[in-house]
Amino acid sequence: MARHIIGMFDSGVGGLTVMKRVLAAIPEARVVYFGDTARVPYGNRSKEELIRLGEEIITFLIGQGAEAIVMACNTSSALSLPTLQERFTIPIIGTIDQGAGLAVQLTREGRIGLIATEGTVRSKAYSLAISQALSRGILPENERLRRSWQQGEQPVSLVRAQACPLFVPIVEAGLANSGEARVIAKFYLAPLLEAKVDSVILGCTHYPFLSAVLREILGEDVRLVDPAEAMVQELQKVLLALDSAALKQRESKGEDSGGRRKDWRVRYYVSGNPELFAQVGNTLLDEPITGVHQHDWCEQ
Ligand code: DGL
Repeated sequence: MARHIIGMFDSGVGGLTVMKRVLAAIPEARVVYFGDTARVPYGNRSKEELIRLGEEIITFLIGQGAEAIVMACNTSSALSLPTLQERFTIPIIGTIDQGAGLAVQLTREGRIGLIATEGTVRSKAYSLAISQALSRGILPENERLRRSWQQGEQPVSLVRAQACPLFVPIVEAGLANSGEARVIAKFYLAPLLEAKVDSVILGCTHYPFLSAVLREILGEDVRLVDPAEAMVQELQKVLLALDSAALKQRESKGEDSGGRRKDWRVRYYVSGNPELFAQVGNTLLDEPITGVHQHDWCEQ
């Protein structure tokens, strides 16, 4: 695969959980990451606001050379993805369809739970996407559930969705592994345990950073479903399609593969404080975060 530039964004450090998976699976990829830290959280913003912010950020990322966009934010994906996909010609991958499809495949009892921001929960995007995934032919790996779907039953559903508004500020403050995180997680997860979910969609990209705490409370039998796992596969398909389109164009122009471009792996931009982003990001990622640039919309 060629060394494509992927533009990725989130309200803050949450999208780093997606970036981590992308770079592990596609080592040749280059990422321009935008964390909208001056305007975090996105969880309670309206659809109109998220469309406006997404449009600004995607335009900026395209200006930085992005050939495909990963919307590494569930709230934006739930509320603004279809509109932004219509406004831009560049491919844009979101979290919802990918996460819902993965949850359908992995559920063992058909009892899926969701934790997410207020906006994502209110949108009902995940429950709709779960029904659509089944209709598109994505079926559970579990044989019993598969058979009952084939017999015309509805064996899989989102049985409980829980908004967790305090999780994002906790992660942004670098407190993902703290006692405070544990107390709050216990409170948020109680209704899911009561609903006897067999799997929980991590419906906000900040939440995988809380995996250890969530696992402690949910126990080993409940599956944590990270949509990023499926987003990576979708991104691979998009990049392969870009490869073959670019190859055709180069062949018709008689050009070479352009493999001599200057080397870099990740470029970080934030709208808020770059030092704070680097400091928190460094506690969350294995690789150190350096050279975070501030992009101030007011300066344009
Ligand atoms: N990480 C984002 C999401 O996946 C945004 C969370 C927020 O800023 O409230 O929804």
